[in-house]
Amino acid sequence: MEGRGAGLNRPRSSGLRHLGNIFHRFAAMNGEPVKEIAVSEQGLETPVLKAIFERRSIRHFEDATVDRNIILQALKAASWAPSGLNNQPWRFALVQDPEIKEKLAALTRYSTILKSAAVLIPVFLDNEACYDRTKDCQAMGGCLQTLLLALHSLGLGAVWIGEILKNKEKVRDIMKLPERLELMAVVAVGYPSRTGQSSHRKPVEELIIFDK
Ligand SMILES: Cc1cc2nc3c(=O)[nH]c(=O)nc-3n(C[C@H](O)[C@H](O)[C@H](O)COP(=O)(O)O)c2cc1C
Repeated sequence: MEGRGAGLNRPRSSGLRHLGNIFHRFAAMNGEPVKEIAVSEQGLETPVLKAIFERRSIRHFEDATVDRNIILQALKAASWAPSGLNNQPWRFALVQDPEIKEKLAALTRYSTILKSAAVLIPVFLDNEACYDRTKDCQAMGGCLQTLLLALHSLGLGAVWIGEILKNKEKVRDIMKLPERLELMAVVAVGYPSRTGQSSHRKPVEELIIFDK
């Protein structure tokens, strides 16, 4: 059938047409056929795709507090990430106390970022909720990316700090948390003081290693 549902397996004459077919199929599955799809330089544009392409790691923040409800909304979104058996192994800490921020900042070479962020969100894997190490860590990655996208969509900037994992036990000890919680990342959050930074990705054609 021309134009619907055939995009994934057909030889492509143009990348955009291919994407168009995929998008149309999803829209039709939801019972809401999309008649017009905006096309930007990135390709087809939907709110989710726009957020994915716009989001950047933000490392410079305004000296402004962030409403707790906004953070809670982002955490709620993050908690809707998929997980194996829906085991939801993620746990979040919220840190605004300057003394605790200082202590956490001392555990990473990215101390300036941590100190200038309005809120730090150490994100933990609860090993007692786990059933398969690989799948649980994959779920944590999905949760963290969902958190970053949600924060971005709420007008906040954030960066995923992984370098601090070299001191993951110390992070847990500072907050006096139980051993079953394993640090996966600290997300530094605040209102961005610099925006519009560029980033780059490999062309998608280089990433597809089998297509038949
Ligand atoms: C697992 C992981 C660890 C990261 N650790 C750090 C970090 O310790 N410090 C930092 O500034 N950025 C860190 N980042 C952010 C990456 O540097 C950033 O996502 C990448 O350069 C692409 O830039 P973009 O997010 O602006 O597109 C980390 C990202 C991931 C996924």
